[in-house]
Amino acid sequence: QVADSLYIINQFGQKYFEEKLFNSDEGQDIALSYLKERGFREEVLRKFQVGYSLQDSQSFVTTALNAQYNIELLVKSGLVAQRDGRSYDNYRGRIIFPVHNQSGKIIGFGARVIGKAERAPKYINTPENELYHKSKILYGSYQARQSIDKLDECLLVEGYTDVISLHQAGIENVVASGGTSLTPDQLRLIHKYTNNLTIIYDGDGAGVKAALRGLELALMEGLNVQLVLIPDNEDPDSYVNKVGAAAFQEFVKANKKEFIIFQLEVMLKDAGNDTNKKAAVVNQMAETISKLNKAEDFTKQQDYIRRCSELLRVEEDGFNNLVNKFI
Ligand code: CTP
Ligand code: MN
Ligand code: MN
Ligand code: MN
Ligand code: MN
Repeated sequence: QVADSLYIINQFGQKYFEEKLFNSDEGQDIALSYLKERGFREEVLRKFQVGYSLQDSQSFVTTALNAQYNIELLVKSGLVAQRDGRSYDNYRGRIIFPVHNQSGKIIGFGARVIGKAERAPKYINTPENELYHKSKILYGSYQARQSIDKLDECLLVEGYTDVISLHQAGIENVVASGGTSLTPDQLRLIHKYTNNLTIIYDGDGAGVKAALRGLELALMEGLNVQLVLIPDNEDPDSYVNKVGAAAFQEFVKANKKEFIIFQLEVMLKDAGNDTNKKAAVVNQMAETISKLNKAEDFTKQQDYIRRCSELLRVEEDGFNNLVNKFI
């Protein structure tokens, strides 16, 4: 019941914000021009139903109350906030990214400041409610679904703008985790669509750490995981805008790496000539590979045991035994 009402309120909000982005002077001058400067074209903004919330703190709430929407539900939706008995718009002067569920209904919003975030947070997201559960959301899955089916592969990026820019570049099998911590629920959803996951994260330290954290979960989920690291100080959105669609595709193709091999390389480099650290790497890799067993593929496990023992310069039989100790 509450859920149904929230869908209706969200849809009302989306229409309101989209109208403001394209048809109000403030929206055009402040928000649309900013988005166009970043390279987004109207077609892709319409496809993702992007909008703009006016700076005035009463504009949406007044419209919604006049249209007879219930104030408690408006607050629950996160579109309206209350303080000292007064109601006001929660998103003010922000770009609005609606978040859709599998069937295309809107379950919440991400609201981004225009330009650099100085005092205010860069994004405000919908609070947890009957529809919006942050840990289960894959942004863009509604728009990506057909392409994932067709290509039997899902690309995973961090954010809203990465998804939208890649669509504009003709890459549509892409979803975002919304930040960096990938959850088991999100991986389970991806596995419903395909066995093949390619994670495309920033090449900075945080991106690498996030990738390594996701690995074990992804292996336990039984996904084939590949990884691409985007060059320093870029993300997929900025990089595709910098080099163009064709070069971006080429980059992904040339730099895709199997996740286990990536982990091994990062750890080996880290260990350097330290024999204790090196032994720890061997141990850690054996444990990682052992997780594959819970997934579906024995041949794949044997293949990794062979390749990793080679890369680690340890005996294959001994390494095999070590893997089995973790099972
Ligand atoms: N995010 C969030 N809340 C924040 C910061 C980030 O929910 N305060 C989530 C958003 O889903 C965001 C993603 O993490 O899209 C990645 O964050 P970031 O890289 O900082 O933003 P971008 O997606 O790159 O956004 P933009 O390109 O507009 O800067
Ligand atoms: Mn499977
Ligand atoms: Mn980053
Ligand atoms: Mn980013
Ligand atoms: Mn970005």
